[in-house]
Amino acid sequence: MNAPSQNASTSKAIVADAVRGSLERSSWIRKMFEEGARLKAEHGAENVFDFSLGNPILEPPPEVQEALRGLLTDPQPGLHRYIPNAGLPEVRSFIAGELGGATGLPYTAGHIVLSCGAAGAVNCVLKALLNPGDEVVTFTPYFVEYDFYVANHGGRLVRSPTDDSFQIDLANLEAVVTERTRAVMINSPNNPTGVVYPAERLEALAAFLREASARFGRPIVLISDEPYRQLAFDGVEVPWVPPLYEHTLVIHSHSKDLGLAGERIGYAAVSPHMAECDLLCDALVLANRILGFVNAPALIQRILPLVKGARVDVAYYQAMRDRMLAPLREMGYEMVTPQGAFYLFPKSPIEDDVAFVKAAQAERLLLVPGSGFGGPGHFRISLAVPEDVVDRSLPVFEKVLRQVG
Ligand SMILES: Cc1ncc(COP(=O)(O)O)c(C=O)c1O
Repeated sequence: MNAPSQNASTSKAIVADAVRGSLERSSWIRKMFEEGARLKAEHGAENVFDFSLGNPILEPPPEVQEALRGLLTDPQPGLHRYIPNAGLPEVRSFIAGELGGATGLPYTAGHIVLSCGAAGAVNCVLKALLNPGDEVVTFTPYFVEYDFYVANHGGRLVRSPTDDSFQIDLANLEAVVTERTRAVMINSPNNPTGVVYPAERLEALAAFLREASARFGRPIVLISDEPYRQLAFDGVEVPWVPPLYEHTLVIHSHSKDLGLAGERIGYAAVSPHMAECDLLCDALVLANRILGFVNAPALIQRILPLVKGARVDVAYYQAMRDRMLAPLREMGYEMVTPQGAFYLFPKSPIEDDVAFVKAAQAERLLLVPGSGFGGPGHFRISLAVPEDVVDRSLPVFEKVLRQVG
Protein backbone atom coordinates (compact mmCIF):
# COMPACT_ATOMS: atom_id res chain seq x y z
CA MET A 1 0.00 0.00 0.00
CA ASN A 2 1.26 3.51 -0.79
CA ALA A 3 2.18 5.72 2.17
CA PRO A 4 0.01 8.83 2.37
CA SER A 5 1.66 11.88 0.77
CA GLN A 6 3.25 14.37 3.18
CA ASN A 7 1.35 17.09 1.38
CA ALA A 8 -2.08 15.46 1.35
CA SER A 9 -4.81 17.96 2.19
CA THR A 10 -6.66 17.61 5.46
CA SER A 11 -9.52 19.73 4.11
CA LYS A 12 -12.96 18.37 4.91
CA ALA A 13 -14.42 19.93 1.79
CA ILE A 14 -15.27 17.88 -1.29
CA VAL A 15 -14.33 20.51 -3.86
CA ALA A 16 -10.60 21.22 -4.04
CA ASP A 17 -9.36 24.51 -2.56
CA ALA A 18 -7.85 25.69 -5.85
CA VAL A 19 -11.09 25.03 -7.71
CA ARG A 20 -13.08 26.85 -5.02
CA GLY A 21 -10.74 29.81 -5.49
CA SER A 22 -11.22 29.71 -9.27
CA LEU A 23 -14.99 29.58 -8.86
CA GLU A 24 -14.90 32.59 -6.57
CA ARG A 25 -12.63 34.60 -8.85
CA SER A 26 -14.80 34.00 -11.89
CA SER A 27 -18.07 34.40 -10.01
CA TRP A 28 -18.74 37.97 -11.13
CA ILE A 29 -18.82 36.75 -14.73
CA ARG A 30 -21.30 34.09 -13.67
CA LYS A 31 -23.30 36.69 -11.79
CA MET A 32 -23.46 38.77 -14.95
CA PHE A 33 -24.74 35.80 -16.95
CA GLU A 34 -27.32 35.11 -14.27
CA GLU A 35 -28.38 38.75 -14.18
CA GLY A 36 -28.61 38.74 -17.98
CA ALA A 37 -30.83 35.65 -17.90
CA ARG A 38 -33.01 37.27 -15.21
CA LEU A 39 -33.38 40.48 -17.25
CA LYS A 40 -34.28 38.51 -20.38
CA ALA A 41 -36.92 36.51 -18.48
CA GLU A 42 -38.38 39.69 -16.98
CA HIS A 43 -38.27 42.04 -19.98
CA GLY A 44 -38.12 39.66 -22.96
CA ALA A 45 -34.88 38.79 -24.75
CA GLU A 46 -35.55 41.46 -27.41
CA ASN A 47 -35.46 44.18 -24.74
CA VAL A 48 -32.05 43.20 -23.39
CA PHE A 49 -28.96 44.32 -25.34
CA ASP A 50 -26.52 41.52 -24.67
CA PHE A 51 -22.99 42.34 -25.83
CA SER A 52 -21.35 40.09 -23.28
CA LEU A 53 -20.94 36.81 -25.15
CA GLY A 54 -18.13 35.96 -27.55
CA ASN A 55 -20.18 33.19 -29.16
CA PRO A 56 -19.65 33.46 -32.94
CA ILE A 57 -22.98 34.37 -34.47
CA LEU A 58 -22.30 33.53 -38.13
CA GLU A 59 -23.38 30.16 -39.48
CA PRO A 60 -20.67 27.97 -40.99
CA PRO A 61 -20.15 28.45 -44.76
CA PRO A 62 -22.25 26.08 -46.96
CA GLU A 63 -19.15 24.00 -47.73
CA VAL A 64 -19.26 22.67 -44.15
CA GLN A 65 -22.75 21.22 -44.53
CA GLU A 66 -21.90 19.83 -47.97
CA ALA A 67 -18.78 18.11 -46.65
CA LEU A 68 -20.67 16.64 -43.70
CA ARG A 69 -23.47 15.46 -45.99
CA GLY A 70 -20.91 13.84 -48.29
CA LEU A 71 -19.26 12.01 -45.39
CA LEU A 72 -22.57 10.79 -44.00
CA THR A 73 -24.30 9.84 -47.26
CA ASP A 74 -21.88 7.05 -47.95
CA PRO A 75 -20.21 6.48 -44.58
CA GLN A 76 -16.94 4.59 -44.64
CA PRO A 77 -16.63 1.83 -42.04
CA GLY A 78 -14.94 3.11 -38.90
CA LEU A 79 -16.00 6.70 -39.46
CA HIS A 80 -16.75 7.17 -35.78
CA ARG A 81 -14.01 5.02 -34.25
CA TYR A 82 -11.00 6.20 -32.27
CA ILE A 83 -8.42 7.77 -34.51
CA PRO A 84 -4.72 8.49 -33.82
CA ASN A 85 -4.31 10.85 -30.83
CA ALA A 86 -2.52 13.41 -33.01
CA GLY A 87 -5.28 13.41 -35.63
CA LEU A 88 -5.82 11.76 -39.01
CA PRO A 89 -2.59 11.63 -41.03
CA GLU A 90 -4.22 13.11 -44.14
CA VAL A 91 -5.66 16.02 -42.16
CA ARG A 92 -2.31 16.72 -40.47
CA SER A 93 -0.63 16.63 -43.91
CA PHE A 94 -3.23 19.02 -45.28
CA ILE A 95 -2.64 21.52 -42.45
CA ALA A 96 1.14 21.16 -42.75
CA GLY A 97 0.85 21.93 -46.47
CA GLU A 98 -1.21 25.05 -45.77
CA LEU A 99 1.19 26.26 -43.08
CA GLY A 100 4.22 25.48 -45.23
CA GLY A 101 2.76 27.51 -48.08
CA ALA A 102 1.94 30.45 -45.80
CA THR A 103 5.21 30.56 -43.85
CA GLY A 104 7.78 29.08 -46.23
CA LEU A 105 8.84 26.66 -43.45
CA PRO A 106 9.13 22.87 -43.94
CA TYR A 107 6.11 21.80 -41.87
CA THR A 108 5.19 18.12 -42.11
CA ALA A 109 2.27 16.15 -40.68
CA GLY A 110 4.45 15.32 -37.66
CA HIS A 111 4.45 18.97 -36.57
CA ILE A 112 0.66 19.17 -36.31
CA VAL A 113 -1.60 17.94 -33.51
CA LEU A 114 -5.35 18.32 -34.01
CA SER A 115 -7.05 19.50 -30.83
CA CYS A 116 -10.37 20.29 -29.19
CA GLY A 117 -10.26 23.95 -30.25
CA ALA A 118 -7.62 26.48 -29.29
CA ALA A 119 -8.44 25.88 -25.63
CA GLY A 120 -7.54 22.21 -25.96
CA ALA A 121 -4.39 23.03 -27.89
CA VAL A 122 -3.18 25.61 -25.36
CA ASN A 123 -3.71 23.12 -22.54
CA CYS A 124 -1.75 20.45 -24.38
CA VAL A 125 1.07 22.90 -25.06
CA LEU A 126 1.25 24.04 -21.44
CA LYS A 127 1.13 20.44 -20.21
CA ALA A 128 4.06 19.67 -22.51
CA LEU A 129 6.12 22.73 -21.52
CA LEU A 130 5.67 23.59 -17.87
CA ASN A 131 7.62 22.40 -14.86
CA PRO A 132 6.11 23.39 -11.50
CA GLY A 133 6.57 27.12 -10.88
CA ASP A 134 7.44 27.95 -14.49
CA GLU A 135 6.10 31.28 -15.65
CA VAL A 136 4.17 32.16 -18.79
CA VAL A 137 4.06 35.83 -19.71
CA THR A 138 1.13 37.33 -21.57
CA PHE A 139 0.19 40.87 -22.54
CA THR A 140 -2.72 42.67 -20.90
CA PRO A 141 -5.57 42.98 -21.63
CA TYR A 142 -5.86 39.26 -22.35
CA PHE A 143 -8.21 36.28 -22.64
CA VAL A 144 -8.68 35.46 -18.96
CA GLU A 145 -8.99 31.73 -19.42
CA TYR A 146 -5.19 31.81 -19.75
CA ASP A 147 -5.03 32.16 -15.95
CA PHE A 148 -6.78 28.84 -15.52
CA TYR A 149 -4.96 27.08 -18.35
CA VAL A 150 -1.55 27.99 -16.93
CA ALA A 151 -2.61 27.06 -13.38
CA ASN A 152 -3.92 23.71 -14.69
CA HIS A 153 -0.33 22.72 -15.38
CA GLY A 154 1.38 24.07 -12.27
CA GLY A 155 2.57 27.31 -13.87
CA ARG A 156 2.09 30.97 -13.05
CA LEU A 157 0.71 33.54 -15.50
CA VAL A 158 2.63 36.81 -15.45
CA ARG A 159 0.98 39.89 -16.98
CA SER A 160 2.86 42.47 -19.01
CA PRO A 161 0.95 45.67 -19.86
CA THR A 162 0.68 46.78 -23.49
CA ASP A 163 1.08 50.42 -24.56
CA ASP A 164 -1.74 52.95 -25.10
CA SER A 165 -2.61 51.36 -28.45
CA PHE A 166 -2.63 47.86 -26.89
CA GLN A 167 0.59 46.98 -28.70
CA ILE A 168 3.48 44.97 -27.20
CA ASP A 169 5.69 47.11 -24.95
CA LEU A 170 9.16 45.57 -24.74
CA ALA A 171 10.28 47.72 -21.80
CA ASN A 172 7.39 46.29 -19.76
CA LEU A 173 8.21 42.80 -20.99
CA GLU A 174 11.87 43.18 -20.01
CA ALA A 175 10.75 43.97 -16.46
CA VAL A 176 9.03 40.57 -16.01
CA VAL A 177 11.08 38.09 -18.05
CA THR A 178 13.38 36.05 -15.82
CA GLU A 179 15.04 32.64 -15.77
CA ARG A 180 11.63 31.28 -14.68
CA THR A 181 9.99 32.37 -17.96
CA ARG A 182 9.22 29.24 -19.94
CA ALA A 183 6.96 30.84 -22.54
CA VAL A 184 5.42 34.07 -23.79
CA MET A 185 1.86 33.85 -25.09
CA ILE A 186 0.50 36.31 -27.66
CA ASN A 187 -2.93 36.62 -29.24
CA SER A 188 -3.37 38.58 -32.47
CA PRO A 189 -5.97 39.56 -33.61
CA ASN A 190 -6.63 40.11 -29.95
CA ASN A 191 -9.50 39.30 -27.66
CA PRO A 192 -10.59 41.74 -26.18
CA THR A 193 -8.95 44.68 -28.02
CA GLY A 194 -9.14 43.60 -31.68
CA VAL A 195 -5.61 44.85 -32.36
CA VAL A 196 -3.29 43.05 -34.78
CA TYR A 197 0.43 43.04 -33.98
CA PRO A 198 2.32 44.37 -37.01
CA ALA A 199 5.46 42.65 -38.33
CA GLU A 200 7.84 45.26 -36.83
CA ARG A 201 6.54 44.63 -33.30
CA LEU A 202 6.78 40.88 -33.76
CA GLU A 203 10.30 41.17 -35.16
CA ALA A 204 11.30 43.24 -32.14
CA LEU A 205 9.67 40.66 -29.85
CA ALA A 206 11.57 37.87 -31.62
CA ALA A 207 14.90 39.71 -31.22
CA PHE A 208 14.12 40.28 -27.54
CA LEU A 209 13.25 36.61 -26.95
CA ARG A 210 16.35 35.43 -28.79
CA GLU A 211 18.53 37.62 -26.59
CA ALA A 212 16.68 36.63 -23.37
CA SER A 213 16.89 32.93 -24.30
CA ALA A 214 20.67 33.26 -24.73
CA ARG A 215 20.95 35.21 -21.47
CA PHE A 216 19.07 32.57 -19.44
CA GLY A 217 20.52 29.58 -21.25
CA ARG A 218 17.23 28.02 -22.41
CA PRO A 219 14.86 28.87 -25.24
CA ILE A 220 11.80 30.89 -24.30
CA VAL A 221 8.91 29.43 -26.28
CA LEU A 222 6.54 31.78 -28.10
CA ILE A 223 2.93 30.56 -28.13
CA SER A 224 0.92 32.37 -30.79
CA ASP A 225 -2.78 31.85 -30.07
CA GLU A 226 -4.51 32.75 -33.32
CA PRO A 227 -8.20 31.77 -33.30
CA TYR A 228 -9.08 35.08 -35.02
CA ARG A 229 -6.38 34.98 -37.74
CA GLN A 230 -8.94 34.83 -40.55
CA LEU A 231 -11.08 37.57 -38.98
CA ALA A 232 -8.96 40.55 -40.04
CA PHE A 233 -10.43 43.76 -41.45
CA ASP A 234 -9.54 46.46 -43.96
CA GLY A 235 -7.23 44.10 -45.87
CA VAL A 236 -4.83 43.93 -42.89
CA GLU A 237 -2.42 41.00 -43.09
CA VAL A 238 -1.87 39.12 -39.84
CA PRO A 239 1.88 38.40 -39.93
CA TRP A 240 3.03 34.81 -39.46
CA VAL A 241 5.18 34.41 -36.36
CA PRO A 242 7.16 31.17 -37.02
CA PRO A 243 9.39 32.68 -39.76
CA LEU A 244 10.38 35.40 -37.25
CA TYR A 245 11.17 33.21 -34.24
CA GLU A 246 12.21 29.57 -34.38
CA HIS A 247 10.80 28.45 -31.00
CA THR A 248 7.19 29.19 -31.97
CA LEU A 249 4.02 27.18 -31.52
CA VAL A 250 1.02 28.31 -33.52
CA ILE A 251 -2.41 27.61 -32.06
CA HIS A 252 -5.33 27.74 -34.44
CA SER A 253 -9.02 27.04 -34.17
CA HIS A 254 -12.03 26.90 -36.44
CA SER A 255 -14.42 28.15 -33.76
CA LYS A 256 -14.57 31.60 -35.35
CA ASP A 257 -13.45 31.32 -38.98
CA LEU A 258 -15.71 28.35 -39.77
CA GLY A 259 -18.29 29.14 -37.07
CA LEU A 260 -17.68 25.74 -35.45
CA ALA A 261 -17.14 26.76 -31.82
CA GLY A 262 -19.35 23.97 -30.48
CA GLU A 263 -17.67 21.28 -32.55
CA ARG A 264 -14.27 21.81 -30.84
CA ILE A 265 -11.73 21.73 -33.62
CA GLY A 266 -8.33 23.37 -33.80
CA TYR A 267 -4.65 22.47 -33.78
CA ALA A 268 -1.20 23.16 -32.38
CA ALA A 269 1.66 23.44 -34.89
CA VAL A 270 5.26 23.12 -33.72
CA SER A 271 7.74 25.14 -35.76
CA PRO A 272 10.07 22.79 -37.68
CA HIS A 273 13.02 24.80 -36.29
CA MET A 274 11.89 24.56 -32.65
CA ALA A 275 14.38 23.26 -30.06
CA GLU A 276 13.61 19.60 -29.16
CA CYS A 277 11.05 19.64 -31.97
CA ASP A 278 10.44 15.88 -32.23
CA LEU A 279 10.20 15.36 -28.49
CA LEU A 280 7.82 18.31 -28.14
CA CYS A 281 5.57 16.91 -30.90
CA ASP A 282 5.47 13.57 -29.06
CA ALA A 283 4.72 15.42 -25.80
CA LEU A 284 1.75 17.21 -27.39
CA VAL A 285 0.31 13.94 -28.64
CA LEU A 286 0.69 12.40 -25.18
CA ALA A 287 -0.89 15.49 -23.59
CA ASN A 288 -3.88 15.29 -25.95
CA ARG A 289 -4.38 11.70 -24.81
CA ILE A 290 -3.80 11.97 -21.09
CA LEU A 291 -5.66 15.23 -20.58
CA GLY A 292 -8.63 13.19 -21.69
CA PHE A 293 -9.24 14.78 -25.07
CA VAL A 294 -7.91 11.52 -26.65
CA ASN A 295 -8.38 12.91 -30.16
CA ALA A 296 -10.01 15.95 -31.70
CA PRO A 297 -13.54 15.12 -32.98
CA ALA A 298 -13.06 12.75 -35.90
CA LEU A 299 -15.96 13.75 -38.12
CA ILE A 300 -15.21 17.48 -38.09
CA GLN A 301 -11.52 16.78 -38.56
CA ARG A 302 -12.33 15.00 -41.81
CA ILE A 303 -14.08 18.00 -43.30
CA LEU A 304 -11.09 20.35 -43.01
CA PRO A 305 -9.37 19.35 -46.27
CA LEU A 306 -12.79 19.24 -47.97
CA VAL A 307 -13.74 22.84 -47.09
CA LYS A 308 -10.25 24.20 -47.83
CA GLY A 309 -10.22 27.99 -47.86
CA ALA A 310 -13.89 28.43 -46.90
CA ARG A 311 -14.74 30.76 -44.05
CA VAL A 312 -17.61 32.68 -42.51
CA ASP A 313 -18.54 36.04 -43.97
CA VAL A 314 -15.83 38.17 -42.31
CA ALA A 315 -17.33 41.29 -43.93
CA TYR A 316 -20.23 40.95 -41.48
CA TYR A 317 -17.97 41.44 -38.45
CA GLN A 318 -16.20 44.37 -40.15
CA ALA A 319 -19.57 45.96 -40.97
CA MET A 320 -20.68 45.45 -37.36
CA ARG A 321 -17.52 47.14 -36.15
CA ASP A 322 -18.25 50.13 -38.39
CA ARG A 323 -21.93 50.20 -37.47
CA MET A 324 -21.01 50.65 -33.82
CA LEU A 325 -17.66 52.44 -33.84
CA ALA A 326 -18.63 55.71 -35.54
CA PRO A 327 -21.85 56.36 -33.54
CA LEU A 328 -20.14 55.52 -30.25
CA ARG A 329 -17.26 57.89 -31.04
CA GLU A 330 -19.71 60.60 -31.98
CA MET A 331 -21.35 60.24 -28.58
CA GLY A 332 -17.98 60.66 -26.89
CA TYR A 333 -16.79 57.10 -26.24
CA GLU A 334 -13.08 56.65 -26.99
CA MET A 335 -11.56 53.48 -28.39
CA VAL A 336 -8.81 52.00 -30.53
CA THR A 337 -10.06 50.87 -33.97
CA PRO A 338 -10.05 47.05 -33.98
CA GLN A 339 -8.38 45.49 -37.01
CA GLY A 340 -9.79 42.04 -36.39
CA ALA A 341 -11.76 39.63 -34.15
CA PHE A 342 -15.27 40.77 -33.16
CA TYR A 343 -14.92 43.03 -30.15
CA LEU A 344 -14.70 46.70 -29.28
CA PHE A 345 -12.77 47.69 -26.17
CA PRO A 346 -13.70 51.32 -25.39
CA LYS A 347 -12.49 53.37 -22.45
CA SER A 348 -14.95 53.43 -19.62
CA PRO A 349 -16.36 56.96 -19.31
CA ILE A 350 -15.68 56.68 -15.55
CA GLU A 351 -12.57 55.21 -14.00
CA ASP A 352 -14.43 52.36 -12.32
CA ASP A 353 -15.31 50.09 -15.22
CA VAL A 354 -17.26 47.70 -13.00
CA ALA A 355 -19.46 50.58 -11.80
CA PHE A 356 -19.97 51.64 -15.42
CA VAL A 357 -20.98 48.13 -16.47
CA LYS A 358 -23.41 48.00 -13.54
CA ALA A 359 -24.95 51.32 -14.63
CA ALA A 360 -25.31 49.90 -18.15
CA GLN A 361 -26.86 46.73 -16.79
CA ALA A 362 -29.53 48.77 -15.02
CA GLU A 363 -30.53 49.91 -18.53
CA ARG A 364 -30.49 46.31 -19.78
CA LEU A 365 -27.23 46.84 -21.66
CA LEU A 366 -24.90 43.90 -20.95
CA LEU A 367 -21.16 44.56 -21.28
CA VAL A 368 -18.04 43.03 -19.73
CA PRO A 369 -15.77 45.15 -17.52
CA GLY A 370 -12.19 45.50 -18.76
CA SER A 371 -10.99 44.49 -15.29
CA GLY A 372 -12.13 40.99 -16.21
CA PHE A 373 -9.45 40.99 -18.94
CA GLY A 374 -6.70 42.68 -16.93
CA GLY A 375 -7.63 45.94 -18.68
CA PRO A 376 -9.30 48.12 -16.04
CA GLY A 377 -10.80 51.43 -17.13
CA HIS A 378 -12.30 49.81 -20.25
CA PHE A 379 -15.22 47.60 -21.18
CA ARG A 380 -15.73 44.98 -23.87
CA ILE A 381 -18.49 44.91 -26.46
CA SER A 382 -18.90 41.65 -28.38
CA LEU A 383 -20.07 42.26 -31.94
CA ALA A 384 -21.32 38.70 -32.32
CA VAL A 385 -24.91 40.00 -32.26
CA PRO A 386 -27.64 40.66 -34.85
CA GLU A 387 -27.52 44.08 -36.58
CA ASP A 388 -30.76 45.32 -35.05
CA VAL A 389 -29.37 44.82 -31.54
CA VAL A 390 -26.62 47.31 -32.38
CA ASP A 391 -29.06 49.82 -33.86
CA ARG A 392 -31.55 49.62 -31.00
CA SER A 393 -28.81 49.76 -28.36
CA LEU A 394 -27.24 53.04 -29.51
CA PRO A 395 -29.68 55.34 -27.66
CA VAL A 396 -29.07 53.23 -24.54
CA PHE A 397 -25.27 53.69 -24.84
CA GLU A 398 -25.90 57.42 -25.10
CA LYS A 399 -28.25 57.45 -22.10
CA VAL A 400 -25.76 55.57 -19.89
CA LEU A 401 -22.93 57.90 -20.95
CA ARG A 402 -24.99 60.94 -19.92
CA GLN A 403 -25.99 59.28 -16.64
CA VAL A 404 -22.45 58.56 -15.49
CA GLY A 405 -20.84 61.64 -17.05
C1 LIG B 1 -7.92 34.44 -27.41
C2 LIG B 1 -8.67 33.18 -27.38
N1 LIG B 1 -7.99 32.02 -27.28
C3 LIG B 1 -8.63 30.84 -27.23
C4 LIG B 1 -9.99 30.77 -27.29
C5 LIG B 1 -10.64 29.43 -27.23
O1 LIG B 1 -11.18 29.13 -28.48
P1 LIG B 1 -11.66 27.67 -28.90
O2 LIG B 1 -13.13 27.74 -29.04
O3 LIG B 1 -10.98 27.40 -30.18
O4 LIG B 1 -11.23 26.74 -27.83
C6 LIG B 1 -10.75 31.94 -27.39
C7 LIG B 1 -12.22 31.89 -27.41
O5 LIG B 1 -12.92 32.87 -27.35
C8 LIG B 1 -10.07 33.17 -27.43
O6 LIG B 1 -10.74 34.33 -27.52
